[in-house]
Amino acid sequence: MRGVALWFFASAVVYVTLGMLFGIWMSASHDHTLAPAHGHLNLVGWATMALFGVYYHVVPAAAQSPLAKVHFALSTLAVWFMFPGIILAIQGQTEILAIIGSFAALLSMLTFLFVVLRTRAALA
Ligand code: HEM
Repeated sequence: MRGVALWFFASAVVYVTLGMLFGIWMSASHDHTLAPAHGHLNLVGWATMALFGVYYHVVPAAAQSPLAKVHFALSTLAVWFMFPGIILAIQGQTEILAIIGSFAALLSMLTFLFVVLRTRAALA
């Protein structure tokens, strides 16, 4: 694994490590209030980004496109805004970070859809 595929996969492993530590902290403190932030860090940060990494590894032609880097940037932005954003939203402080993170996640997935279809068309 190398390039964008590795960036996605390595980031995903970092996020799930943080997500697990956060889960252990929630369990130990018997305070599950922030469980949605933990769930999103693990599902958007780990599961989704690891899948992207596997795709770019299996389809190296897709990883060559500059759009793959845009896709990585958007996914990273999504996790970085969504995790603290959900915490702040649950605490009743502000929803703006969660909103930015959500739209970055959506844009990231639409970029991925475009990459998948364009690569498919180029290889067909
Ligand atoms: C060391 C590993 C982990 C620990 C200690 C842990 C702990 C927890 C705890 C205490 C809760 C709250 C449960 C409740 O209040 O009902 C929770 C919820 C959740 N966890 Fe984990 N977790 C771990 C790993 C993961 C992983 C790897 C994933 C996903 C790939 C994940 C996904 C979720 C989801 C989706 C929820 C529900 C969130 C919600 O209710 O909004 N967890 N976890």
